[in-house]
Amino acid sequence: MKAIILVGGQGTRLRPLTDHIPKNIVPLCGAPFLHYPIAQLKKAGIKEIAFSVGYKPQAIRKVYGDGRKLGVKIHYALEKEPLGTGGAIKNAERFVKGSPVVVLNGDILTDLPLKKMIAFHQRKKSKATLGLVRVEDSTAYGLVLLDKGGRITRFLEKPTREESVTDTINAGVYLFEPSVFDLIPPKVNYSAERGLFPGLLESKAPFYGYVWGGYWQDIGTPRKYLTTHWDILKGAFPLPVKFRKKGQVYFGKGVRLAKGARVTGPAIIGDGSILEAGAQIRPYTVLGAGCRVKAGGTLSKSVLWDGVLVAPGIHLEEVVLGQKAQALSNLPKGTVLGDGGRM
Ligand code: GDD
Ligand code: MG
Repeated sequence: MKAIILVGGQGTRLRPLTDHIPKNIVPLCGAPFLHYPIAQLKKAGIKEIAFSVGYKPQAIRKVYGDGRKLGVKIHYALEKEPLGTGGAIKNAERFVKGSPVVVLNGDILTDLPLKKMIAFHQRKKSKATLGLVRVEDSTAYGLVLLDKGGRITRFLEKPTREESVTDTINAGVYLFEPSVFDLIPPKVNYSAERGLFPGLLESKAPFYGYVWGGYWQDIGTPRKYLTTHWDILKGAFPLPVKFRKKGQVYFGKGVRLAKGARVTGPAIIGDGSILEAGAQIRPYTVLGAGCRVKAGGTLSKSVLWDGVLVAPGIHLEEVVLGQKAQALSNLPKGTVLGDGGRM
């Protein structure tokens, strides 16, 4: 079995973090985000993956190349204009032809067991199966109603609050028989959620939902991006790259702690980062490579990308700072600085 990952969205809700890279490769606890779904696919024995790319494709190619380093084979289905989620799936068809295919939204982190979902799909003799999860506020997602046998009876993308009649949503994990591709028009912008899924319902094809009660998160907003780090530090997922672990702290190579600098885990300190005298890293903080926290700086529940500078005596809590950003003052909770931002 092969897979498609949709990685062509512009990531507007994650700006300014996505000004220079697509959201699908934002760093997450030491690795670009896509490392996680790739690990999930490998766990199910799926090693050939087509990335549907559009927005800043070179940035993705630079990280993943042909996939060899991660033990998978990666193809790139490039679109000149955004084709929408359905059009992007169709555009990658040539790489996955002939057998059922797993399709993943490229911005969701979940431990949904693909093997079990595949077994469910086969048992039901389904044509298209959607992975589903339950969430507290369903209005930002695609709502799915099921009958008792798990068959999908309604799909409603981004409903109003009044229309929001269920907590069960589309998790962005699909399993399609090859014939599903015939329902998508080629070379035009077409939405899976507003075109393909309603079409499947209309055609009365076997269309099922596989409900998963485990971990699920869409990392597409700054708040969710930040809290997903905390979840991983709590152990929701194994870290996809190697660190030296000391207590609850993960250290990269060549980290330097001056006298009186202190790290309280769970936390990650990336390669070559420097903590000056009296600097304090408190729980749920992740530093990328080459960061520098000057004397007396304090960080808590924050995420720093590579090469970030924190000025002397600055206190930061719940902030996200892009590559080479500089925190020169005490920033309010929730601050997000893009690459090179100074504040
Ligand atoms: N190649 C390509 N081309 N990819 C795209 C395009 C496109 O034109 N548009 C979006 N994508 C990718 C995004 O990069 C993302 O990985 C995925 O498709 C979903 O797009 P989002 O823009 O993140 O959609 P959403 O979060 O608002 O809603 C979707 O995901 C929810 C779960 O997180 C829908 O599928 C909802 O039904 C679902 O509940
Ligand atoms: Mg999304």
